[in-house]
Amino acid sequence: MSLPACATWLTARGAPPATHPGRAILAALTLSAAACVRAADSPGPAYPQGAAAFQANCAICHGPTGAGVASLAPPLLAYPARYAASAEGRRQLALTVLYGMFGEITVGDSRYNFQMPEFVRLDDTTLAAVLNFLVFDLGHAPAQTAPVSASEIAAERAHPLDGAAVREHRQSVLASGT
Ligand code: HEC
Repeated sequence: MSLPACATWLTARGAPPATHPGRAILAALTLSAAACVRAADSPGPAYPQGAAAFQANCAICHGPTGAGVASLAPPLLAYPARYAASAEGRRQLALTVLYGMFGEITVGDSRYNFQMPEFVRLDDTTLAAVLNFLVFDLGHAPAQTAPVSASEIAAERAHPLDGAAVREHRQSVLASGT
């Protein structure tokens, strides 16, 4: 039965067409209830310690889901996973969280020009976990990607940079096609 035919049939039987939206809402509620059950069953983040550190230190600027905040802080849903695929990109991840970033950057089609603070006070394990949360939980990097290790953070901690130099390094990483 085509849709107009269905409506005519319902009207002819005295069922007000107004029941249509009502049914649609009920169906949507049933679906979202099922989705809620699935969400409750599904495992949490692969890096719960990273997720907690992200909520405590990063979400205020990058948003609770890492989607970014327009003209304040960029989204973290794609670039970190890209960086994780190359050696210089992995250094870039460590440098950004250790020393912050300063100067204009382009992420996708949007520009940001504010200051990312340094997190050099957080330990290597916490910084590695927060980066793994970005790379795997938010960025869905391919399974063959190696997790960021605490020793990769320690290696960059030994060579301090300022936020402007971290931004320069970002440009070179992206120019290299990462
Ligand atoms: C005070 C706000 C603020 C906080 C807090 C903050 N960031 Fe940022 N973040 C920024 C800004 C602004 C930029 C872009 C910097 C620029 O314009 O040079 C940025 C950039 C980044 C980038 C680089 C993205 C890219 O495409 O290269 C990463 C990765 C990042 N932040 C991760 C984090 C993590 C992880 C935390 C928590 C440990 C955090 N940020 C906390 C503001 C913030």
